[in-house]
Amino acid sequence: MNSKWQKKPKQSSNEFAGTIDYVYLTLVGTERCSDRTLLDKSFFDRFARGSVMSFDVSVKETLGHIVLVKFEKKKLLFNDQWYCRNINVTSPSGDCFDFPCYRWIGNEKEVVLQEGMARLPQDDQTSLLKEHRRSELQSRQQLFRWKEWRPGFPMSIDANSGTDLYLDIKFDVAKTVDFDLNYLKAIENLGLNKLISLFQSSWMDIADFGKIFLNIKNPVSEYVMQNWNEDFMFGYQFLNGCNPVMISKCMNLPDKFAVTQEMVQGSLDRGLTLQKELKAGNIYIADYAILEGVQANATDPNTQQYLAAPFCLLYKNSQNEIIPIAIQLSRQSTAGEGNTVFLPNDNQYDWMLAKMWVKSSDFNVHQLVTHLLRTHLISEVFAIAMYRQLAAVHPVYKLLIPHVHFTIAINTAARENLICESGLFDKANSTGGTAIVEVVQKAMKTLTYKSLCFPEAMKARGVEDLPNYYYRDDGMMVWEAMKSFVSDVVKIYYGSDETVQEDKEIQAFVKDVCFGMKNCPKNCEFPDSLKTREQLVEFLTVVIFTASAQHAAVNFGQYDWFAWVPNSPSTMRKPPPTQKGQVDMKYIMESLPDRGRSCWHLGAVWALSRFQDNELFLGEYPDMYFTEQPVMEAIENFRKKLAEVTNIIKSRNKNLKVPYCYLSPDQIPNSVAI
Ligand SMILES: [Fe+2]
Repeated sequence: MNSKWQKKPKQSSNEFAGTIDYVYLTLVGTERCSDRTLLDKSFFDRFARGSVMSFDVSVKETLGHIVLVKFEKKKLLFNDQWYCRNINVTSPSGDCFDFPCYRWIGNEKEVVLQEGMARLPQDDQTSLLKEHRRSELQSRQQLFRWKEWRPGFPMSIDANSGTDLYLDIKFDVAKTVDFDLNYLKAIENLGLNKLISLFQSSWMDIADFGKIFLNIKNPVSEYVMQNWNEDFMFGYQFLNGCNPVMISKCMNLPDKFAVTQEMVQGSLDRGLTLQKELKAGNIYIADYAILEGVQANATDPNTQQYLAAPFCLLYKNSQNEIIPIAIQLSRQSTAGEGNTVFLPNDNQYDWMLAKMWVKSSDFNVHQLVTHLLRTHLISEVFAIAMYRQLAAVHPVYKLLIPHVHFTIAINTAARENLICESGLFDKANSTGGTAIVEVVQKAMKTLTYKSLCFPEAMKARGVEDLPNYYYRDDGMMVWEAMKSFVSDVVKIYYGSDETVQEDKEIQAFVKDVCFGMKNCPKNCEFPDSLKTREQLVEFLTVVIFTASAQHAAVNFGQYDWFAWVPNSPSTMRKPPPTQKGQVDMKYIMESLPDRGRSCWHLGAVWALSRFQDNELFLGEYPDMYFTEQPVMEAIENFRKKLAEVTNIIKSRNKNLKVPYCYLSPDQIPNSVAI
């Protein structure tokens, strides 16, 4: 009997090649087990990183079909963790058995691997395999426990710090994507350390922000710097900026919005009334109601900070551009009385500041709702439920595991350093302090399952015919390619809808997701069971799309769109204007983030926009959890479709002043890891 071991090729300082401890191996066949065999330590002394090692296990009688490999590592001098990719066993008659591992081997008592062919729980016939599956899930449920980190949040992992995490989901020590490291690098590389010392002072004028822009050579952020105050640029960002989910078709004006026909008449270039434009579907709105009544960041007694809950009315003009035509920053009464509506023909300071207020609100809603809640925290719920309910041999475990890589670890780091009390979020953002919890709680109360289904989300906002909406166009192509891949995989393992209903693990998985999202409203429609293959395909597409494409669309453009501070002020230090004609440039500069806060902000968006070393992009699955040919073919088809989508986006972008790349499959990482 010959076994081949393959060690992880990527470098990681968790590994100490050549210092492997004693390893014992047992092969479990359908007829009998081999003896517990000590692998010759001299082999491992030469067992270099990335190498494949082969050795023989002597057996006296035939073992039958090999179904499990068990191994134990006994520590020699110190606990030497190492990573095993997979084990292949060849029987004397030439039969080959694959045992995918892809796990860190630490101080566990015994690691048991099941033969690689994916199987549903109802397909396990022998009591040996059933028992292995049951005990595997039982021990995972002890390792992956739910915890409500803050009341009203999605449930998260029960861990206070990254060091508490189970070895396999921890960051590699050498993982350079770690936020803290990136952040410190940013402060240094961007030359921000000197400016942070001038913490509380305002910038002199808008051009002064250029001082922290000196080291930036990024075409998009430079374009933003040059055009940020143009109305077309302001409107464009609702479609293809970093928070492309706020714009909705407006058929009826909200009660609290005091905008009238007379106010916007000059902006409507078709000669129609506002009522007719509303009816024609040319009016859109961005509504920041979620910020109404939220207590602004009060963590720094020396700097008063403010929040507003703006309405921004947008117009699709006859040139098919989306431009702002009215902004209201207050919500004084249901009838809209007493509210000032700012307009493009107001004096330049009034209009500029009104737009800045919208962008500041947009930045804060982006960070807490679009990005943190609707990608990071939701993906963590999917990840925890997957680890708790799906055995490693389950096809859906094999399908999802690349899409939850490092998600629990990055969120644990965020809870430890970013959104905790006195964390980085408090330093620069108007929604720091108690507002973090308040805003996420509010957003949870309206979160629905259907809003995570990309095509449904587009329909719900009425943006299907919005011109030049590349986020929607590219998102639809990626969603379709992904759905078709998931469908191919589901069909391989589920012959009928009944098979889905009979799969106890998949039913427990969706039920556990429901538990993780228990703070959503009653009508949130997260399914607590799945009846059909179609429902399963949609559910899994939501999991993969949220972790990959949706996160990429709202994460990797942060530096591009948020680095030029006047374009997206992270906080405002003066109250929003209540009347026209009362502000000047001095007031605007005193409203915008001071020097210190601008530096914190810039460092943060720089660090959050980095790809990691050895990033795996959509469709790249070097870890072969699946061993069956039909799945290999499905993966190959998926990769082909993604390449087509990439090419379509590439040729479209050739004709654009600002290329839209965030949803190009070759730039979408597989999982939420930063
Ligand atoms: Fe992120």
